[in-house]
Amino acid sequence: MESSSSRAPASFSTQANALLRKNLTFQKRNLKTNIGIVAFPIFLCVVIILIQQVVNNELDKDKYKCGCQNGVCGLEFSSLNQVSACPIPSPPQWPALFQVPRPEYRAARTDFYPSDGLPNESCKASQSCPAAVLLTGGNRSFAQSLGQSLLMSSSSSSDLSDYLSILSNSMLGTDAPSGDTQFIEPAFISDRPLYVIQPQCESNDTSQISFKNSNKQIQMELKCVQGLTLWRDNSSLINDDLFKGYRQGNLERKTNEFIAAYDFLNSNENALNLNIWYNSTYNNDTGFVNVALMRVPRTVNVASNAYLKFRKGSGVMSMFEYVKEMPKLGTKLKLDFSSLLGALFFTWIIELLFPVILTYTVYERQQKLKIMMNMHGLKDGPYWMISYIYFFALSAFYMICFVIFGSIIGLKFFRLNDYGIQLVFYFVYINLQIAIAFLASSFFSAVKTATVIGYIYVFGSGLLGEFLLRFFIEDTSFPRGWIIVMELIPGFSLYRGLYEFSQYAFSGNYMGTSGMRWKDLGDSENGMKDVLIIMFLESLLLFPIAFYLDQVVGGGIRKDRLFFLNYFRKKSSSLSRRRPSFQRQGSRVFVEMEKPDVSQEREVVEQLLLKPSISHATISDNLKKVYPGRDGNPDKLAVRGLSLALPNGECFGMLGPNGAGKTSFINMMIGLITPSSGTAYVQGMDIRTNMDEIYTSMGVCPQHDLLWETLTGREHLMFYGRLKNLKGAALLQAVEDSLRSVNLFYGGVGDKQAGKYSGGMKRRLSVAISLIGDPKVVYMDEPSTGLDPASRNNLWNVVKRAKRDRAIILTTHSMEEAEVLCDRLGIFVDGGFQCIGNPNELKGRYGGSYVFTMTTSVDKEQEVESLVQRLSPSANKIYHISGTQKFELPKQEVRVADVFRAVEIAKSKFTVHAWGLADTTLEDVFIKVAKGAQSFNVLS
Ligand SMILES: *[C@@H]1O[C@H](CO)[C@@H](O)[C@H](O)[C@H]1NC(C)=O
Ligand SMILES: *[C@@H]1O[C@H](CO)[C@@H](O)[C@H](O)[C@H]1NC(C)=O
Ligand SMILES: *[C@@H]1O[C@H](CO)[C@@H](O)[C@H](O)[C@H]1NC(C)=O
Repeated sequence: MESSSSRAPASFSTQANALLRKNLTFQKRNLKTNIGIVAFPIFLCVVIILIQQVVNNELDKDKYKCGCQNGVCGLEFSSLNQVSACPIPSPPQWPALFQVPRPEYRAARTDFYPSDGLPNESCKASQSCPAAVLLTGGNRSFAQSLGQSLLMSSSSSSDLSDYLSILSNSMLGTDAPSGDTQFIEPAFISDRPLYVIQPQCESNDTSQISFKNSNKQIQMELKCVQGLTLWRDNSSLINDDLFKGYRQGNLERKTNEFIAAYDFLNSNENALNLNIWYNSTYNNDTGFVNVALMRVPRTVNVASNAYLKFRKGSGVMSMFEYVKEMPKLGTKLKLDFSSLLGALFFTWIIELLFPVILTYTVYERQQKLKIMMNMHGLKDGPYWMISYIYFFALSAFYMICFVIFGSIIGLKFFRLNDYGIQLVFYFVYINLQIAIAFLASSFFSAVKTATVIGYIYVFGSGLLGEFLLRFFIEDTSFPRGWIIVMELIPGFSLYRGLYEFSQYAFSGNYMGTSGMRWKDLGDSENGMKDVLIIMFLESLLLFPIAFYLDQVVGGGIRKDRLFFLNYFRKKSSSLSRRRPSFQRQGSRVFVEMEKPDVSQEREVVEQLLLKPSISHATISDNLKKVYPGRDGNPDKLAVRGLSLALPNGECFGMLGPNGAGKTSFINMMIGLITPSSGTAYVQGMDIRTNMDEIYTSMGVCPQHDLLWETLTGREHLMFYGRLKNLKGAALLQAVEDSLRSVNLFYGGVGDKQAGKYSGGMKRRLSVAISLIGDPKVVYMDEPSTGLDPASRNNLWNVVKRAKRDRAIILTTHSMEEAEVLCDRLGIFVDGGFQCIGNPNELKGRYGGSYVFTMTTSVDKEQEVESLVQRLSPSANKIYHISGTQKFELPKQEVRVADVFRAVEIAKSKFTVHAWGLADTTLEDVFIKVAKGAQSFNVLS
């Protein structure tokens, strides 16, 4: 088709350029929304920093500072909360204590626990149960002899000034839970008594002790508790006893706790081998759990003392005076809120772009804007590339704002972690996010659903990450492989990455070091490396899949499932395309009888196909579309073998009732659906193979205006002009002319946003779009529906001017429009043409009668009737009411001149109030043809 006037299709870069400029203008108009999007993370950061301030304020309170009194600060003035903040150059010394069960939980004999050697459970009520120790060993006599001296205090000195030696020489225990450091022994500041474990107690054996430790006066109640050692035959019995005695909720009756249990194994005179059971989770009823290893040393000490006593006699013992922490510096309690809640919050913030990308992509599809662009020659390659670049830029800008702002206001999350890792991580993630959004957009046809699902995904994946994934990450026994499987879900991999950042930032902040560094990626605990690899591979994989899905199920022009094979087919057929050689399609067996004008058109088409020329803009050759029947219904023949040849400069009107198949025909011609058989040639190019080239010389004015609300008329035309490969001055000129021709030039209308246009202006703009770039074929779908008469006339003038050098196919329901605009008409009923011809021919052929109306006084009706009889014997009265009568006169019987003469004569005889003679209208023809065809089809 090397006609000199036709331009080459727009190149990739031209299309990309057109799209980019359009998008930029579009975004400029959407500035408010965009600012909103970018401002959101800033807003959230501010919220976080405010919460951080509150937290800091709270931590700054005296409650968490080292306690002070009269200007002196230190451990001695501190509560347990405050201790951690104090500098402690020389930590105090505390006697090592046993962990003794509370009186009500101590072991006793019950129905449930019928153990001998223990007192009856009534002791629980009187709080006088003994504190018991279980014992076993390989050599019973040996173990028992050690056991006897296990809970025996050595001789107590009576020098009260040396309280430490007094306290450490007696078997002291407490039932207060321990802390996890020994800067302060909680037992000495709680209101619980200290227990002195003795072989026997007097009934109310309590005393007081008071001493000073690290400048603090301490006053304690000492209470005697009977110590008891019980032999068990082996260690598994001990285990059972301990297990049965475990406190079960509030079933105190069944609780039987012991101080500890000893297994002397194979110890003998020469060796002491020992297993000790101790309760490391000892706590009170509030559920406050402490890992209380601090109470273990004493249990070891008594065992070694018992052994020493056995070996060397009662005078020898190893003194265990006190336990003491190492000194420490003063610290300030720091808690980085952003790192603590960061992973969840930041997952939300970053994922928020997902619904934005998704809805925008689905919007262009739902509004059919993408199809519209496709139909004007935009290929999918540039479309997706520009969309990608655009969303990437948006995401990158968003992330950069987020990181910079977060860093400026001092969020540790950003500041402590290496910016390089952050950059790589966010970069890889936003790529992945765009890929999923593109992928997901293929599955939605409505913006609303897409928005809702998008946000559910964002909030759902964040919450699942925080409450499920995090749980698994922190549970070290959970197999790593499964975590990696879970991280295949992009929301989870994002969460994991942010989680690692926040962990490193949190501990970095707490310890005063830095966050994640490149070398930390090697840590086995650090999931960042896996996440980066997963996300990178996923985005490599998802982009092609998204592109493929869009081609197959997506909202543009649908392609064959194996569309990429066409590429090779096209290559091989491209030579034959240069010189159009039309191949015949399908068999030609016509079962139905065709009207002569329709078969004549078919003849013309066949002739044209034999000796190709480009005098005809479009030729459709026996085009068929069959929709397969569903649910047992027969197949539906939407278009049954349509042949039509349109020369340049002709406007062809398609009339037909709704559902006749006009739209299917047009959709085949513009490449939205593929024909079931047959084909069509536009400027000699086959619609089955060369649609891309055809788009360059094709224009479409869809029934509903497909416009961007925020772009001006001029911008629309510039965009589509560029797609049609117009450039520079030619483009400006074409746009100018176009605006002028559709009357959108004056008064600056062309520079107003299309959303503000009236219906008529939008229609005219749509028509202008379909005409820009001088297309050779233009399809217009009901161009003037819904317009007022003035706008309609305006529009008609535009179309009339436009049809001079191109072919126009127009569908309409307005007979007036068809008569004004079209050179030829085809009435399309039930998938095929019933007739083809110019409007007057059709009226002549199908009309065939005049309508004669006359109004007289009632008594003259008879005379009028006889007058009509005289004019035409087979006339037919079709209407009659009080003096007004209507007759149908067959055209072959009457001549118009005769009618006039007869009326003149009648007027001289009686009074004629009014009369009229009308030719058949196109409307009559249409109704007649449509009715005839339908009854024929019903009968057949
Ligand atoms: C058990 O220990 C005692 C010492 O207490 C020792 O005399 C005896 O030989 C030991 N018995 C065994 C079987 O080792
Ligand atoms: C260990 O301590 C916990 C918490 O105080 C208690 O519930 C449990 O019964 C104790 N276990 C044994 C075996 O005494
Ligand atoms: C349990 O321990 C916590 C923390 O040590 C303390 O605040 C609480 O009062 C204790 N509760 C009882 C019932 O002792």
